[in-house]
Amino acid sequence: MSDSASAMRHLLGYARRHWREFLAVVGLVMVYVLTQVMQPWLVKIVIDQDLIVRHPHFRSILVIGLIYLGVTVVGLFANFTQNRKLQWIGQRIVRDIRNDLFTHIESLSVRFFDTHETGRLITNVASDTNQVSQFFTSFLLSLIQDGMSIILIMGAMLLLNWKIALLSFLVIPVIVAISAVFRKKLRENYRFTRSQYSRLIGYTAENLGGMRITQIFNQEKKQFDQHTALNRRFTDGNISEYKWSVRFNRTFNALGNLSVALMMWVGGMAVLHRTIEVGVLYAFITYIQQFFNPINSLTQNWNTLQTSMISAERIGGVLLTEAEITDAPAPVEVPLGPSGIEIEGEVAFNQVSFGYSPDAVVLEDINFRVKPRMFVGFVGETGAGKSTLMSLLTRFYDVRKGSITVDGIDVRSLRQSDLHRIMAIVQQDVNLFSGTVRDNIRMFREEIREETVQEAAHVAGADEFIRQLPGGYDAWIRAKGANLSLGQRQLLAFARALALQPKILILDEATASLDSATEMALQAGLTRIAAGRTTLVIAHRLSTVRHADMIYVMDHGRIVERGNHEELLALNGQYARMVSKAAPTELVERSF
Ligand SMILES: Nc1ncnc2c1ncn2[C@@H]1O[C@H](COP(=O)(O)OP(=O)(O)OP(=O)(O)O)[C@@H](O)[C@H]1O
Ligand SMILES: [Mg+2]
Repeated sequence: MSDSASAMRHLLGYARRHWREFLAVVGLVMVYVLTQVMQPWLVKIVIDQDLIVRHPHFRSILVIGLIYLGVTVVGLFANFTQNRKLQWIGQRIVRDIRNDLFTHIESLSVRFFDTHETGRLITNVASDTNQVSQFFTSFLLSLIQDGMSIILIMGAMLLLNWKIALLSFLVIPVIVAISAVFRKKLRENYRFTRSQYSRLIGYTAENLGGMRITQIFNQEKKQFDQHTALNRRFTDGNISEYKWSVRFNRTFNALGNLSVALMMWVGGMAVLHRTIEVGVLYAFITYIQQFFNPINSLTQNWNTLQTSMISAERIGGVLLTEAEITDAPAPVEVPLGPSGIEIEGEVAFNQVSFGYSPDAVVLEDINFRVKPRMFVGFVGETGAGKSTLMSLLTRFYDVRKGSITVDGIDVRSLRQSDLHRIMAIVQQDVNLFSGTVRDNIRMFREEIREETVQEAAHVAGADEFIRQLPGGYDAWIRAKGANLSLGQRQLLAFARALALQPKILILDEATASLDSATEMALQAGLTRIAAGRTTLVIAHRLSTVRHADMIYVMDHGRIVERGNHEELLALNGQYARMVSKAAPTELVERSF
């Protein structure tokens, strides 16, 4: 509870910006509620003073009729304006929260995404924000409007005849008790359907993502059956929810009619005994009917409050998460020259140890120094820690022990924005975004010029296939690059890295085997893009790093061998074994 309370407090900050509008809404609600309560009162005046008297007052009836009309128009206007204003505020709040949430998620460290599912974050940004805005629009409105209605109606009844009023108030505990029982039932049902719904959505999303695998493994039937079961439970939940809400509404309605009947009886008697007038009876009956709406609405909105709280807690949980990796309080200023940041590009690891969790060791005592503009390779078994090494250099994670320096400056002392301007990374899976080829190469940075984009594509060897795409550089890339081949995506990733003109280039080679023509193109591209910058290449195909200035062989989080191709072969250790295990066409033949 304290979690959701602090989350709610945080989110209330968004509403505070709109306090003037909120105040206007409260004013308008007051006007509207007042007009609603005035209407029966006006009719009562007409009945008692002008209609049932011996000589009806036509003029007075006309005047009150006009007043009634005026009150109705004012009520309509107030209600309309208040609704519009409230929607406006609600949408503003959602927009602000959503923006902040997205920006905040972007600022979080990589480790956050290791532990938070994308699907859940999507729900946070998309629907939880909406749910929270319901708190400001629906719940707050109901609290003000219905609360005020109840008070005013009660006041009017007491004024009319306090004895009958007190008698009718006896029905209130009954209404509240019945609503409480149904409310609990409805909430349980709501919870159930919501969780079934997110399961169904999650299942569908996962399956759409893995459609090819499902089809190739002939799992359609099994997946379909599972979907059917989930779908059935969701449907059952919905039906049950609906059933309970109908029961609730009907019970409420019956109770309302019963109250009216009772009022007819009690009030009718009073009229016959001349303790009250007919108009008062009319007003009482109308008020009793009016009474049920706000109570019903309040109970409904109690549910809104609860679901909003759950959403607020989830959003708050994300918003209040602090980035693990932050800039140093006084970062080292790097000199800026005409060609970007002026650094040489020397990279050094000094006794670096690291693990993703406190008890695991993924890297241990890593030491190496790469001179500026050198081309070095990292090889080793899968899981040896090669990609992890690069994640430390880019500061996706911080080292546990030791330090990593660029030109002798600890990466932790550099601004992250500077660090990421110095280096570019091409990862195992290429992430392409919806947009044109050009957008993807320059990563939507408008300041990167067209020549730079084309030059980068040319050097990477991507220019040729891009020109063959319909639209060339303006060709639209569909979701994740589905309309491009694996090799083409890789070439685009090279071009993207180059367009940033990095001093340090990191390549994490894809394990997927490419066709030999593409591989040749990549190989040629690699040599070109490595020129003039420090290049660190993680290679799965040993041919990629054969000509490297230095090759580091990794095993179980340690560097076990180092040297160039010939030196490592001469060592006759792990590297030599890897070479002899590799396909004969790949290295052995070519190297001897
Ligand atoms: N995000 C992560 N959270 C926890 N453990 C991780 C994470 N990423 C990698 N690991 C673990 O760290 C170890 C090293 O992984 P890493 O990705 O660095 O290997 P790699 O040498 O790049 O392997 P590959 O050649 O298959 O790409 C592995 O045991 C892996 O299970
Ligand atoms: Mg890897």
